[in-house]
Amino acid sequence: MEGLGRLEYRGYDSAGVALVDDDRVATAKRAGKLTNLREALAENPPADSATAIGHTRWATHGGPTNANAHPHRGGTEGKLALVHNGIIENFHSLRQSLLADGVEFTSETDTEVVAHLVASAYADSGDLTRAMQDVVGTLEGAFTLLAVHADAPNTVVAARRNSPLVVGLGDGENFMGSDVAAFIGHTRKALELGQDQIVTITPDSCDVINFDGTPSEGKAYDVTWDAAAAEKDGYDTFMEKEIHDQPHAVRDTLLGRTDENGQLVLDEMSITEQDLRGISKIVIVACGTAAYAGMVAKYAIERWTRIPVEVELAHEFRYRDPVIDENTLVVSISQSGETADTLMAVRHAKELGARTLSICNTHGSTIPRESDAVLYTHAGPEIAVASTKAFVAQITASYILGLYLAQLRGGSFGRNAAEVLEELHGIPAKMSDLLGNLARVKEIAYFMADTRSVLFLGRHVGFPIAMEGALKLKELAYIHAEGFAAGELKHGPIALIEPGQPVFIVVPSPSAENGLHGKVVSNIQEIRARGARTLVIAEEGDDDVVPFADEVIRIPATSQLLAPLLTVVPLQYFSLQLSSAKGLDVDQPRNLAKSVTVE
Ligand code: AGP
Repeated sequence: MEGLGRLEYRGYDSAGVALVDDDRVATAKRAGKLTNLREALAENPPADSATAIGHTRWATHGGPTNANAHPHRGGTEGKLALVHNGIIENFHSLRQSLLADGVEFTSETDTEVVAHLVASAYADSGDLTRAMQDVVGTLEGAFTLLAVHADAPNTVVAARRNSPLVVGLGDGENFMGSDVAAFIGHTRKALELGQDQIVTITPDSCDVINFDGTPSEGKAYDVTWDAAAAEKDGYDTFMEKEIHDQPHAVRDTLLGRTDENGQLVLDEMSITEQDLRGISKIVIVACGTAAYAGMVAKYAIERWTRIPVEVELAHEFRYRDPVIDENTLVVSISQSGETADTLMAVRHAKELGARTLSICNTHGSTIPRESDAVLYTHAGPEIAVASTKAFVAQITASYILGLYLAQLRGGSFGRNAAEVLEELHGIPAKMSDLLGNLARVKEIAYFMADTRSVLFLGRHVGFPIAMEGALKLKELAYIHAEGFAAGELKHGPIALIEPGQPVFIVVPSPSAENGLHGKVVSNIQEIRARGARTLVIAEEGDDDVVPFADEVIRIPATSQLLAPLLTVVPLQYFSLQLSSAKGLDVDQPRNLAKSVTVE
């Protein structure tokens, strides 16, 4: 249950456990939050057991009901229990053939089909590992499966394809989970697994085979996140903790990026420098907040490398016929490294011959494992569903990539990489100052608790930040919010402005190029003249905005391309506070899961 509690953020509309007790398997499962399951177990305590599996669910096939909650039993005697993450794409045909064999189902899920298949295979072979191996070969789609059987005591067998699974190696005990948070309270020795692998654990053994039965072994590593790192550090919510963790996330992502000669290096690079010099286009693929990090990165990478950069929503890129070749570098950005849309986009890119690089926050996850090169962010475990510290770490990592490519390819900018890195190293301190001055943002949020619509405007790198600010408000406060490019106002959106309409405006530094600052100040005037309530995010000392601002939220002065790392912070904090003011669940907003591992 402790492990399930730490995994709840991955999806939480039902939960359940199964325990092997002598010659039977006891199960308990409940729809709703984990507390419902805890109550059920308190009412009917199961017998003690040292062999158990558990699951928190984010519904895909079948609604969030007790019957559809995992574990699902298989076999006529119900001696097998199984839990599953992912989607079995051919489950309809498998279910039909089981129904034809007289199997009776108690749920609508694809998971129960697998439970019956494994139970049937076990009846044939009497070996749970062999049974799992016989079944996974018939499954199409993405899955992590864990199974126990009353006749196979002290044993848990798991299988994974395109879905997360990691092993925890303890002393006289072993664990498996979707990520290390499930067992870091018990062991920090972990085993990273590859694609299409089956793991069999007992208290004293851990055996890994490939789906074809050939022996294999995972890649051992030590988990640096201790239990405390995933706790709240005294904040009310994980999100608030993680917003305040952002200086560390930037700082840690910058750590160890240069060699003894001050040259930038990447984590795992199996693309040759020659190939990187030949890159003629970069395409960034990501979803949600990660996509907005990519939009920010575009401005910096194009400026520093003169390589054209396209930013594509992964689920759009995946289903169109993009112009990609071996001189294209496809950069995926993903906190979890398991987002199915992004994973499929990376695979699509590889099929088209592109080089692939993953910017990811989760070591050992699927997307970096399937990419040619990896640049890990070091934001630590991000528990809140709404991404904050991972976002600023993604931007930081994108800057590192841009500077690395500029350095590699020479050109006018290559020489200045050190200057930008120097300024980047100064961002955490500026963030800390800013985080200490957000009291007014909280007051504004509580004052606006009943607002029904908020608009966000930004220009240049402020535009993706406006989009991210709107997304935060949607996913946390469940109200209509929309981000616009400030220059787009007069092309339609200004019709939305009416007296009292709250509008956040992200203002470029007065030192920004191309007169962008003055243009945005004009935008503020235009909407203020029509009655908008202007909430302006502006650099310290920028007095031009004061006559047209109902509120001015100050950020420390920084250069134009690095400003997003700071301008996003008040918007994150505003959404957190508005959600709290409305009494909503900040860390686990409705309908959302932390990692969307299905397409
Ligand atoms: C951000 O607050 C959301 N939780 C969501 O948009 C998220 O960024 C997106 O699903 C991508 O997730 P990933 O970074 O794990 O791939």
